[in-house]
Amino acid sequence: MALPVGVKGSAELERIEIDLLLEGIFRHYGLDFRGYALGSLKRRLARRMREEGTPTLSALQDKVLHDDAAMERLLVSLSISVTAMFRDPTFYRAFREKVVPLLRTYPFIRLWNAGCATGEETISLAIILEEEGLLDRARIYATDFNAGVVEKARSAEFPLARMKSYTENYLKAGGKKEFSRYYAADGPVARFSSELTQNMVFAQHNLVSDGSFNEFHGILCRNVLIYFGNPLQHRVHELFHDSLVNFGVLGLGHKETIRFTPLEHCYEAIDSREKLYRRVA
Ligand SMILES: C[S@@+](CC[C@H](N)C(=O)[O-])C[C@H]1O[C@@H](n2cnc3c(N)ncnc32)[C@H](O)[C@@H]1O
Repeated sequence: MALPVGVKGSAELERIEIDLLLEGIFRHYGLDFRGYALGSLKRRLARRMREEGTPTLSALQDKVLHDDAAMERLLVSLSISVTAMFRDPTFYRAFREKVVPLLRTYPFIRLWNAGCATGEETISLAIILEEEGLLDRARIYATDFNAGVVEKARSAEFPLARMKSYTENYLKAGGKKEFSRYYAADGPVARFSSELTQNMVFAQHNLVSDGSFNEFHGILCRNVLIYFGNPLQHRVHELFHDSLVNFGVLGLGHKETIRFTPLEHCYEAIDSREKLYRRVA
């Protein structure tokens, strides 16, 4: 019997192979990338295929399902942990000017830094709270689904070579002190002060599959949802809504928004350009 060759175009075949790969990873490793945005997934998978020497997505699937180290490399590619201290300084300036006064009204402050990557964002947040006299009564929960980056975040050590650009960001963000007072240089490493990290809790948490674990006065989840498809973004917004106290603050990345989501009406903008919102319903 002749096969109906060419009925499916190559784009559709690629989609089938991606779906099968993600389904296999989910069923074998319990890691769920099925709701991630297709465009960035395709770019990451194409790169892994080149680097793993697998000519097709099906060959990549075969490799990652039988070789944990190959899966680990794929996980690193898919987690995209690019970050920086005081990344988008205007966001932190707005946080200091418009969110800190709201946080000041609480006797004890719980913040969640979701998708914290290697912790640069978490330390930036702690520095602002310290300068505003709020760090002593705050606890920051910093989570990421990638155990490797959570471990790095816990160490609060970053490359010393990055401190020049981080100092510039800090000053643009309205930093008030000598930035170098926050870390000690140790060879190629800048080790941040334990005073900043003492009220931090680091944990592995997957926004796709794990539930709410506390009630927060503020949630920062920047440059994470951009990698998720719309249905998954909406699910994570439900998780954030469930995890925020009434009038709690949500901070997203510059390319992300609560607008056009089913929960849009539950928030009012504190600063719409900086993607800072307040839960009102
Ligand atoms: C581009 S980094 C953003 C880091 C930081 N928030 C910032 O804006 O600089 C994206 C982070 O999201 C994390 N991530 C991706 N999918 C996730 C998920 N399902 N649950 C939790 N974290 C996730 C990645 O591991 C990565 O560390």
